[in-house]
Amino acid sequence: MYESSSSNDLTPLLTLYRMGKFDLSHRIVLAPLSRNRSYNNVPQPHAALYYSQRATKGGLLIAEGTGVSHTAQGFPHAPGIWTKEHVEAWKPIVDAVHQKGGIFFLQILHVGRLSTNDSISSTDKGITPGLNGVEWSPPRRIRKDEIPNIVNDFRLAARNAIEAGFDGVEIHATNGCLIEQFLKDEVNDRKDEYGGSLENRSRIALEIVEAITNEIGSSRVGIRLSPFSNFMESGDSNPDALGLYMANALNKFDILYLHMVEPGVSGATVLQESEDETPHRLLRMRKAFKNTFIAAGGYNRSKGNQAIGENYADLVAFGRLFLANPDLPRRYELDASLNECNSSTFYVLDPVVGYTDYPFLEEA
Ligand SMILES: Cc1cc2nc3c(=O)[nH]c(=O)nc-3n(C[C@H](O)[C@H](O)[C@H](O)COP(=O)(O)O)c2cc1C
Repeated sequence: MYESSSSNDLTPLLTLYRMGKFDLSHRIVLAPLSRNRSYNNVPQPHAALYYSQRATKGGLLIAEGTGVSHTAQGFPHAPGIWTKEHVEAWKPIVDAVHQKGGIFFLQILHVGRLSTNDSISSTDKGITPGLNGVEWSPPRRIRKDEIPNIVNDFRLAARNAIEAGFDGVEIHATNGCLIEQFLKDEVNDRKDEYGGSLENRSRIALEIVEAITNEIGSSRVGIRLSPFSNFMESGDSNPDALGLYMANALNKFDILYLHMVEPGVSGATVLQESEDETPHRLLRMRKAFKNTFIAAGGYNRSKGNQAIGENYADLVAFGRLFLANPDLPRRYELDASLNECNSSTFYVLDPVVGYTDYPFLEEA
C-alpha cells in the first residue's frame, strides 16, 4: 500500500502516497472546514475560487460539512447536497478543483441536536441553552422506525455527491453532530438497540457506512471520527475503546480511509504553535485500521512530518493553517513563513473577506 518516494526523506509530508486508486503527490490534506457562505444552503461560485486556490495536482481536499437533508441543517448558510439545485451548484466547484488535478471528497453530515429549532437526536436531552452563545432547544428523540430514513438520506446524499463529480464522500461522525450523538455515551441514553453497548451505539454509523458503500462503492468512502472530543457536550467515558471498536468494525466494509481527530482540539480557537510532542493517542486505531489513516488536529509542519516519518499516519489534515494559507503545500516545501488565520472571519457571509483573500507566498 505504501509508495513513499525516497527523494524527499527530509520532508515526509511531501512524499508520494497511493490511497486506493488515487495517486497522491503529497500527504497534506485540506481538513473539512465549514465556512457558511452557501447562501440558503446553495453552494456559490466563490467556493470554486476558494477550493481551487487550495488544490494541487494529486492533493486531497475534503469539502466542508454539507447537509444530507432539510432536517440535517443547523449552521446558517452551510451547503446542502439533497436537491438537484445543490448538485448543479457543486459541479463548477468540483470542476475547478479537478482542473488543478486535485482529489475532492465531500463531507456529508446531519447536525442532529446542534440546531435551534425542530432538531432530532438519539436523545431528548438538549445542549445547555446558552452554550457558545446559542439558545439551543431540546431535540426530539428519533424513533427507531425513523432511522432507516436517516440512513437513506445519507445514501442519497452520497449518490448526489458522485453525480456532482466528487471523487468520494467523507461521513461526518464527529464534533457533536448526529452520528456522534449516537456514538457517545454522554449523549446517547437510548434503551433500544441503538443505545447502551458499543455495538448498539455504533449501529447507526455502520448502517450508514454500509448503505453508502453499497451505493457508491467502498473505494470512494471515508469517515471522520473524534472519539476524544467533548465538543457540544458529546464526550464519551471510554474514547479509546470507542475509537478502537469503530476502527475494527470499519475494516469489514473495506472503506478507503479513516480520518481521526486528536484529543483536545476543537478547532474553534486560533491555533497555538506549540512544539509539543504529537499526543499519539490515535496510534492504536491507526494500527487496527487496515486502509488509509488520516490524522488531524493541532498539526503544523514539524508535527506533520514527524507523524508521517514515524508511520503514525498516512496523511495529515490541516484545518486552520490551510484555511489561512491557500498554498500550504508549497510553503511547507520551502519551509516558508505562514499567514495567521483570523478566527473572526471564519463564518462571516462575505464571499471574499477571510475566504479567498489570504495571500499566496508570492503576494505576502
Ligand atoms: C472554521 C472551522 C470550521 C470547521 N468545520 C468543520 C467541518 O465542517 N467538519 C469537520 O469535521 N470539522 C470541522 N472543523 C474542524 C477542523 O476540520 C479541524 O479538525 C480542526 O480545525 C483542528 O485542526 P487544525 O488544528 O489543523 O485546525 C472546523 C474547524 C474550523 C476552524
